[in-house]
Amino acid sequence: MRLGAGLLFLLLASVPLRSEEQRTAEPSSPPNPSHHAPEVVERRVDQLLSKLTQEEKISLLAGDSADGMSTLAIRRLGIPKLVMADGPQGIRAHGPACSFPSGIALAATWDQKLAYEYGSAIGREAKARGIHIQLGPGVNIARTPLNGRNFEYYGEDPYLTGEMASRWIQGIQAQGVIATVKHFVGNDEEWRRMEIESLMDEQTLREIYLQPFQKAVGQGGAWAVMSAYNKLNGFPSTGNDRLQNRILKQEWGFPGIVMSDWWATQDVKDIATGLDLEMPMGYKVTKESVTKALQEKKLSQEQIDQAVRRLLRMAISMGFLNGKQERNDLPLDSKQNAALALDVATKSIVLLKNSPTFLPLDRKSLRHVVVYGPNAQDTPAVGGGSGGVEPFRKVSFLQGIRDALPKETEVFYVPMPLSKPFSLSNFLEFGKEIPVPPRIVDVRRMTCVTQPNFTKVTVRRDRKISISWTHRSPPEGVSKDQEARVTWDAEIKVPVSGNYELLTEGHPEIRLGNRELGNPESYVMLLEKGSSVPLRVTANEVGRGSGHVSVRIGIVPEEATGLYPAKSADVAIVCVGLNPDVEGEGYDRGFALPVAQQQLIAKVSSANPRTIVVLSGGAAVDMRTWIDRIPVVLQTWYLGQSAGTALASILFGDANPSGHLPCTFDRSIEENPSFHEYPGTFQEGKDWPVVNYKEGIFYGYRGYDRSGHDPLFPFGFGLSYTSFDLSLLTASPIADGHTISLDVANTGKRSGVAVIQLYISLTGESTPRPLRELKGFQRVELNPGESKKIKISLPDSSLMYWHPLKNEWVMPEGQVSVEVGFSERDIRMKALLPKIEPPRLEPPKSDPTESGSLRLVPSLSTNAL
Ligand code: BGC
Repeated sequence: MRLGAGLLFLLLASVPLRSEEQRTAEPSSPPNPSHHAPEVVERRVDQLLSKLTQEEKISLLAGDSADGMSTLAIRRLGIPKLVMADGPQGIRAHGPACSFPSGIALAATWDQKLAYEYGSAIGREAKARGIHIQLGPGVNIARTPLNGRNFEYYGEDPYLTGEMASRWIQGIQAQGVIATVKHFVGNDEEWRRMEIESLMDEQTLREIYLQPFQKAVGQGGAWAVMSAYNKLNGFPSTGNDRLQNRILKQEWGFPGIVMSDWWATQDVKDIATGLDLEMPMGYKVTKESVTKALQEKKLSQEQIDQAVRRLLRMAISMGFLNGKQERNDLPLDSKQNAALALDVATKSIVLLKNSPTFLPLDRKSLRHVVVYGPNAQDTPAVGGGSGGVEPFRKVSFLQGIRDALPKETEVFYVPMPLSKPFSLSNFLEFGKEIPVPPRIVDVRRMTCVTQPNFTKVTVRRDRKISISWTHRSPPEGVSKDQEARVTWDAEIKVPVSGNYELLTEGHPEIRLGNRELGNPESYVMLLEKGSSVPLRVTANEVGRGSGHVSVRIGIVPEEATGLYPAKSADVAIVCVGLNPDVEGEGYDRGFALPVAQQQLIAKVSSANPRTIVVLSGGAAVDMRTWIDRIPVVLQTWYLGQSAGTALASILFGDANPSGHLPCTFDRSIEENPSFHEYPGTFQEGKDWPVVNYKEGIFYGYRGYDRSGHDPLFPFGFGLSYTSFDLSLLTASPIADGHTISLDVANTGKRSGVAVIQLYISLTGESTPRPLRELKGFQRVELNPGESKKIKISLPDSSLMYWHPLKNEWVMPEGQVSVEVGFSERDIRMKALLPKIEPPRLEPPKSDPTESGSLRLVPSLSTNAL
């Protein structure tokens, strides 16, 4: 039986080993997981396999329905129940835990060592709670800023993502906890994630979207991969023979397990095509379905045994059969982990703008500080969904600012009730009444179909776009516990010309005219008097996900007015941006900030030019309407439990900003290279939407370099309170590549951290290549006036690209130039590499794991950095 989190916590709290002192202090060196030679592991797997009954084997192919977060135990053979937990930013649903900054924040540190420590810390948190398998990291790619889960991932670049994720994995697995790299693959938006089909050519798949996974299982040694909900190039990702059997297991030699994302399994045959574990429970993979599939020869005994073998191999290699996973000597509320979470948060903040030099603030000269915005008091620690963590304690931006200032400084907070920042009533808070908008939406038809079998239930005319499963009754013929998809077909009839804001609740998807908008929470459009615009609103998973869905449209008032103490303040700090209600799992978001937030920035900054904007969110938002008049802008992602302390240390100069963007910040969403191919379209003959990655490898900065547009802030960008210079770039050949060395100097007056980025540029190829691609990076700490020589290795393998015609990895034929700088658009030096000899790489091996000879898994043997 599984103990409730609260009870478990109480019981553990009474164990004498965990005195108050011990509960927050970390033992100096936690024992490592057991080490087994691969042959020993395989022998033990063989023994267990020979003793398992068929029924027991089948039970190991799916999760335990009792909790949906574990595998089943076979007690008589000492095979334990393997306990799982979400997710990439800390331990979810096992009582309070350390809430770490989100994945995108970790990526913004460009610090591999920190990624290793972050993974190790989550490993210790997991072990303290008896967890065997952590459901992270997520390594999908930020192809569009609108993806609701960007915050969990590591940005747009496959190299940066792969590097950070593989260190994270090495860190957690060195603590004896499995990492699960997810979601394999092409799950780069949340819009219709359960059904959408991602289409991409082989080159794009190999070079961009598969790269982080390949690194995570190769360099990182991840023992588990989670399949994705979406389809890829015509086949479901879960149970995709080519992806899972041929590429992952055979080409890459992955020895571990593929588990399905929750409810993503399509059929029991998925076991034959590479799935090893159906989660959260045996829904498609049951005793009956497996037996029938065996009889019908859709599944072989060998395939079942292979899936079980993989699970056992993983469990034995990690020492899970040797004793209990829970480590009572590790604290539940660890001081060490909390300090690390703060360190990551501080290092991840990106100073986007500081002109004229305004930060750091001199705290002694401040008498009166005023703080605004919905995120100041209710600072989001993390985006929405399964990555959420309930922390022991949390420091809001407001609190962090207050704590950092002397008692005499007055910190005034304007408590605008923007906790529902997307409601029109916010405008009223400014003291100005706006007229009740005339009814401008004419709802022609509401259709409600029950899921999962899509039986049409209700079609009727409706008065407004609003449905509430929880408070009111669902439509006739649908019971409250039934899940449904509700669609409204309506027309917007425009009474007067002007800006209109469409405000949604419950993440419905929106189609305006012929354009799919995804799931914006706020969308502003200029509409002309007398025009009429078709509007389709679809609410998915009503009854399961969102209980309440509504859409309203109102005219945006010209200007909101109200009382602003900003004028008399020494500095005004406006904390706006996204939060878990608008950015999270299962829904994408819009690019614009809600008008109420834009007006807040405008109003405060016109009252006081000393205005700082602090943004939360997993990627860029539209800043065009205000960026030019704001002197300071900080991107803070989701900073976890210590957000306020981290922000204050940057504002007041206790720390020098060192975060750099892991994704391009678009000026306008229309300039984003994937804009025309987002979120996807419905095509003749297909019941599901399709997103075509037509931009191919030319997305993100690779796309901007091709289109010639200037992004608002380029990939890799980040300001510091000091300045740096680079000199003496050289490339020296070594056995399997080159060592690039250069000197970096701190030319300013403060200590600081430079993030040196190394790009390669291939100009002599017969096939189009991006202008430059990231292939190395290093953080360097320097005192004022100090200079250091740094070395970055550039293996030949990282120069290879996927040739679209030859359909294989090739070495560049032409010249390779190496470029170093401080962002993708701030290249300071270039050098040509001597001509590279033909490939020195070995061809991919056939699957060594299925023959019984296991490859050495780096996770347990290479934990040194
Ligand atoms: C998410 C996964 C998560 C799983 C278990 C799914 O809906 O996509 O990322 O690990 O649920 O909570």
